[in-house]
Amino acid sequence: MKLRLNAITKRFDGHLVLDAVSLALEKVHTLVLIGPSGGGKSTLLRIIAGLEFPDSGGVEINDEPVIFQEESLLRHRRSVGTVFQAFNLFPHLTALQNITLPLEQVHGHSRVEAEEIAHQFLSRFRLEKHGTKRPAELSGGQRQRVAIARAVSIKPKLLLFDEPTSALDPEMTAEVLDMIRQLRDEGRDFILVTHEMGFARQIADQVALLADGRIMETGAVAQVFENPASHATREFFGKVLKY
Ligand SMILES: Nc1ncnc2c1ncn2[C@@H]1O[C@H](COP(=O)(O)OP(=O)(O)OP(=O)(O)O)[C@@H](O)[C@H]1O
Ligand SMILES: [Mg+2]
Repeated sequence: MKLRLNAITKRFDGHLVLDAVSLALEKVHTLVLIGPSGGGKSTLLRIIAGLEFPDSGGVEINDEPVIFQEESLLRHRRSVGTVFQAFNLFPHLTALQNITLPLEQVHGHSRVEAEEIAHQFLSRFRLEKHGTKRPAELSGGQRQRVAIARAVSIKPKLLLFDEPTSALDPEMTAEVLDMIRQLRDEGRDFILVTHEMGFARQIADQVALLADGRIMETGAVAQVFENPASHATREFFGKVLKY
């Protein structure tokens, strides 16, 4: 995809959270956002997803601007697949129903079509035998895999994942990261926020470091990890790679 962020500014209660964030990438498949807690990663991802309004500035995906007005935002939201760190699924619905609900209610599929698509994705991700379970009856890793299957089932033009593994133990994290890698290898376009630096390094083609509401560094993954140009990036790596 081609991605442009044009001077995105966002304040919460007068507090500047994104400070004219700009980024221009001609071609990127997997953009990984990293940076310290509170730096603005989730806020930026939510703006790109059309779930939050910027105070000023804009987003363009493949030369199409995201128009921050309710009606066009609805269309935009339908075209991206989002997964957040936890609580993605409706607790009262089964895994299968969690996938069929948006297909039926938002994407206009019949019940039969929606179930067919849901079964396809459940079996593809080895979740077939869990289709009738409710989220409380699934492991954390299975839950996130269902959430990812749901995000992918709508044929999104772009996947936006915000720390999808941060609530998981290492074994479940590996399950979910494997699934993300598979999707990446299929050529899906991703913007991913993660604290898993090893994974970021393996999967990203571009990395951006966001701290204090500003992009402190952006570049190809090898360059940012091996030869960080900014002090903020070196400081961040110094902290997260210590243990
Ligand atoms: N809805 C909101 N209302 C008020 N303040 C908010 C809101 N959402 C985020 N903030 C503030 O904006 C700043 C950036 O938050 P954000 O969640 O984007 O950071 P982050 O980089 O995702 O952090 P983390 O790595 O901890 O998830 C924080 O200071 C946060 O308290
Ligand atoms: Mg966050």
